[in-house]
Amino acid sequence: MRRITSPARKIDWPKKAPAWVALLVALGTLSVLAAGAGQRTEDAGSRDWPSYGGGPENTHYSNLAQINRENVSHLEVAWTFDTGDSYPGSEMECNPIVVGGVLYATSPKNNLVALDAATGKLRWRFDPNGDRKIVGKLRNRGVAYWAGEAGENDRRIFFAARQYLYALNADTGQVVETFGSGGRIDLRDDLGREARDSVTMTSPAIIYKDLAIIGSGVSETLPAAPGDVRAYDVRTGKLRWSFHTIPHPGEAGYETWPKEAWNYSGGANNWAGMSLDRQKGLVFVPTGSASYDFYGANRLGDDLFADSLIALKAETGERVWHFQTVRHDIWDRDLPTPPSLVTIQRDGHEVEAVAQPTKSGYIFLFDRVNGKPLFPIEYRKFPASDLDGERTNPAQPIPVTPPPFARQQLTADMLTQRTPDAHRAAMEAFTGLRSSGQFVPASRQGTIIFPGFDGGAEWGGPAFDPATGLLYVNSNEMAWVLRMVEQKEDRERPTGQTLYRTECSACHGAEMKGSPPEFPSLVAISKRYEDDDLLLFIAQGSGRMPGFLRLGNESLRAVMRFVAYGDVTSVEKHSASPFDMKYLSDGYNRFLDSDGYPAIQPPWGTLNAINLNTGQIAWKIPLGEYPELAAQGMATTGSENYGGPVVTAGGLLFIAATNFDKKFRAFDKATGKLLWETTLPAAGNATPSTYEIKGRQFVVIAAGGGKSTAPSGGSIIAFALAATPSESDRTGSGKLGR
Ligand code: HEC
Repeated sequence: MRRITSPARKIDWPKKAPAWVALLVALGTLSVLAAGAGQRTEDAGSRDWPSYGGGPENTHYSNLAQINRENVSHLEVAWTFDTGDSYPGSEMECNPIVVGGVLYATSPKNNLVALDAATGKLRWRFDPNGDRKIVGKLRNRGVAYWAGEAGENDRRIFFAARQYLYALNADTGQVVETFGSGGRIDLRDDLGREARDSVTMTSPAIIYKDLAIIGSGVSETLPAAPGDVRAYDVRTGKLRWSFHTIPHPGEAGYETWPKEAWNYSGGANNWAGMSLDRQKGLVFVPTGSASYDFYGANRLGDDLFADSLIALKAETGERVWHFQTVRHDIWDRDLPTPPSLVTIQRDGHEVEAVAQPTKSGYIFLFDRVNGKPLFPIEYRKFPASDLDGERTNPAQPIPVTPPPFARQQLTADMLTQRTPDAHRAAMEAFTGLRSSGQFVPASRQGTIIFPGFDGGAEWGGPAFDPATGLLYVNSNEMAWVLRMVEQKEDRERPTGQTLYRTECSACHGAEMKGSPPEFPSLVAISKRYEDDDLLLFIAQGSGRMPGFLRLGNESLRAVMRFVAYGDVTSVEKHSASPFDMKYLSDGYNRFLDSDGYPAIQPPWGTLNAINLNTGQIAWKIPLGEYPELAAQGMATTGSENYGGPVVTAGGLLFIAATNFDKKFRAFDKATGKLLWETTLPAAGNATPSTYEIKGRQFVVIAAGGGKSTAPSGGSIIAFALAATPSESDRTGSGKLGR
């Protein structure tokens, strides 16, 4: 661990919230003020960005208005912090939090940095990697903050790296030794299973009182860890409760799986983060699909609580209500973002609701208290699977209102017209594929998934404006192809050695010596990586090395064991093992034309404003472009985008997200009119944060790039209106220069 300390500078806060606000909050009566004070009730008047998504309600809303429609065009860079951690292919998905004038963010190598939020100066840095060489992408979307009671003088940052959740001293960056085992807990513990399958955490914990409530990232293929939602004591690291998303015998939902599934199945995990209603003590947990993602013969049934929005009592983990958005998912339709906790107008009344966007392009809107849908949801019929052993549910829930924010079915007339050649190639490929819209079963011939595996909505999530009831969602409109490949019979399964020869030796050489620097040597690789990391690396690939997910977990493990230990035993033959998959997908393939552009007509990415009071789409615009296509006259195509928006009382919607043009933009939140844009050093595939220090409002974004082969970066950049530096320093009032 590297730690850099600098004497903590005392910062004078503009104490905006008068005492009576705090009192009202304590009495739980602030909701009556919500329209004026914004959604961040307990933080009303706060100038911080105290948690992921701006607050536990995940509305990405700020009541700051210093930067507004009139002056946003004058925004300039206030400071830049270079993490120094960028490497080829690296990403940075972090939404920084800002507490008490300190900004906490994660770097491409998943170091945690604490910066002076006004100047970008480094206060301390925590490196969980030690001597470990980083390969592949490390994903981390942020951290959580907890403060003890007054007088306790205990403030902690909860930060996840690899299979650990760390508690760090917020002031010094030192691990809190009394938490868990030496300052961390192993996420693979407490799952009630012997097996220690890979468990990570890419989204931060939700803090409720003295609990850190967490989800997990687990393997998409079997074996995989179960997606238990867990609450740990923030002080001790002791498990306080867990909710089994794959129910155990006697628990509700158990009957929606095969009897033994709770022992062998995995996934149904919350990887995207959660939202919390502090007043009601309810935590809202969106879950992903069960493993294996694309073939569910060993998990026949609806698979509750996969692909569900679950409301749990934050204190105990007891389920209050749930809604399953996809039954028996075989399309990887994970709920990809924490929902927004919103207040909407209905027949002259205010209704506290929860809005959940999906990868399919839907908004599910429920009453927060009882889970009642606030717009009609239809169960529509879809065709059955023709894969041996698979059984899909005949019907899936589709919200009738609001209308989908992404196109729903790819038809021949929607194929690219970019050039005649591109069109011809796209048409040829398309003719052999199934394309009948949502929830059409995976097939050997190939099924178009549109919108694709990355949405529709993605982890960036929505922003909500309490003043207007508008929910802002950026969306991908990419088609992907899901093709299932029948697996060889067990007895024909190759050994790790054979697999190495057929799959790896072409690049790494028969003796594993490689030909550095192009192709690294794998000799003594086990000294440098833990098994789990090797497995993940081989599955995902990196740079010029392809991923080998298609081999399936058993074979991956065999080739890993051969490479690491020279283990030449066969792939273990489990007779009738639940892990045997008759079909595996041939990878995550975007439907692209012959030049690598989307094989469909634009828009390829959009930004949508949806009125949750009426259920209507208020406006919709393409988001992003390919600079080289724009130069040829093909502008405003929209592009793939990752990372969410932020909406402010200043009338603005800030969003970067676009993969290729590296832009950071501000739109008029009422109309979608572009008011400001700047080009970042690398794409800002992250959600921005906004906060105020000494009367000066900042908007900050992590510019990490690295999506879809775009160049990587590693800087965090804050924007503000120009201050008169000498004046603001002297008076501390942050007077503005204009
Ligand atoms: C097409 C060429 C290619 C093939 C095939 C290939 N690799 Fe690689 N491999 C690479 C390259 C290039 C790198 C370096 C990637 C990077 O650093 O981003 C690499 C890196 C690795 C590393 C990390 C090495 C280190 O020092 O960090 C491991 C482990 C690995 N490969 C294992 C495998 C295994 C096992 C297979 C077969 C299942 C395989 N590779 C197949 C090209 C290949």
